[in-house]
Amino acid sequence: MAIVGTGNRGCLTWGQEVVVGYSDVVEIVGLCDINRKRVVAAQKLIGINAPTFVDFDRMIKETRPDTVMVTTIDATHARYIIRALELGCDVMSEKPLCTDEQQCQAILDAEKKSGKKITVTFNARHDRMEKKVKELLLGKAIGDVISVDFHEYLDTSHGADYFRRWHRLKENSGTLLVHKASHHFDLVNWWLNSTPVEVTAFGDLKFYGRNNSFRSTHCRVCPFKQQCKFYMDVTKNEQYVRLYVDCESEDGYMRDGCVWREDINIYDNMSVVVKYENGAHLNYTANTYLPYEGQAISINGHQGRIDCNEFGGGGFSNKEVRLTRSFGKSEVVKDLEPERVGGHGGADASLQDLIFRGSQGPDPLGLRAGLRDGALSSLIGIAARHSIERGSQTVKINDLVKL
Ligand SMILES: NC(=O)c1ccc[n+]([C@@H]2O[C@H](COP(=O)([O-])OP(=O)(O)OC[C@H]3O[C@@H](n4cnc5c(N)ncnc54)[C@H](O)[C@@H]3O)[C@@H](O)[C@H]2O)c1
Repeated sequence: MAIVGTGNRGCLTWGQEVVVGYSDVVEIVGLCDINRKRVVAAQKLIGINAPTFVDFDRMIKETRPDTVMVTTIDATHARYIIRALELGCDVMSEKPLCTDEQQCQAILDAEKKSGKKITVTFNARHDRMEKKVKELLLGKAIGDVISVDFHEYLDTSHGADYFRRWHRLKENSGTLLVHKASHHFDLVNWWLNSTPVEVTAFGDLKFYGRNNSFRSTHCRVCPFKQQCKFYMDVTKNEQYVRLYVDCESEDGYMRDGCVWREDINIYDNMSVVVKYENGAHLNYTANTYLPYEGQAISINGHQGRIDCNEFGGGGFSNKEVRLTRSFGKSEVVKDLEPERVGGHGGADASLQDLIFRGSQGPDPLGLRAGLRDGALSSLIGIAARHSIERGSQTVKINDLVKL
């Protein structure tokens, strides 16, 4: 495997963790990043001798990987996915698959032409609570699903982080409707086992960006350090120093960028309604400046409701999968998989196992995600962005690409 994009995700989840857990089945043969210092820093952090490159084609030609892992910033996934396919490699891509419909169509066409395979690494499916929801739905615990309520709460730490970095610009992330919500749209597509048809959305920037009286470029040089609740000291995190601070001279990427910069053009509050082929509706919201973090999800069926809640902070928490049958009783579902160690509550480890050890094995929950899943989850976010930009007009997925 070769990795392109050696920031946090490439370096840790698909670098260090793969070396520690899967060296008997996979070898990392090359590392590539646009930042020549960061790719060398990553090589050291991962602890391997694989050669480093800033030229992607050169890496593929010299190292001949079977698979390319794409962990660059979102808007650049498409170019590497397509080029890797053209050069005869299978591809694994971090979410989102792509950030606009032209990229999506180009990837669909390229995969067809190449005969190679794309995997999209949706770790959110691997959360033990989300898996349980899928199992309940497959067992028809609440009958046919009529609607889904999905509320994403991002707090003043995790939420704010998207406004510090490259995600803050639509041209990099496609907005958080693509970057972040593609995880959530994928979960709903997977749970419902149906195809999204049309999308209507509202979104605004009401907290970060221009909505403050003071601002700077980044925290280290900020004259408002004392009064800003969002001040972060990036130098306290050794890994961030090695991956980002020490590499700033190459590309000016400040890991501690100011959340009040006036160039921020993504939304910090979003509401989306998605209509599915099977008639179900999704009501989705995401807010990124909240006092606590988590998700509140409810799935409403003909014969009951599933609540999947994991949120809290400031001294309270709610974490349970609850099944309430219509005209029956409500119970907490107890037989969840045991919790695992590792990133994202063990979800990363479950995903890595499936990819590196279980690729030929059974998959009763349908956890494997390919091109179609990657495309549809991105397309809901892309359609939502178009809808907002067109005064909340409804956008049909079929008008964006030919699947
Ligand atoms: N599934 C998850 O839970 C999860 C979590 C974190 C990140 N991610 C995904 O991983 C990807 C990387 O995120 P990150 O947090 O590691 O970001 P990051 O900023 O730490 O790393 C991105 C890297 O891409 C490099 N890059 C930018 N443009 C490039 C180009 N044109 N060519 C080659 N390299 C380029 C940057 O130099 C940087 O090293 C994103 O797509 C993100 O959505 C997924």
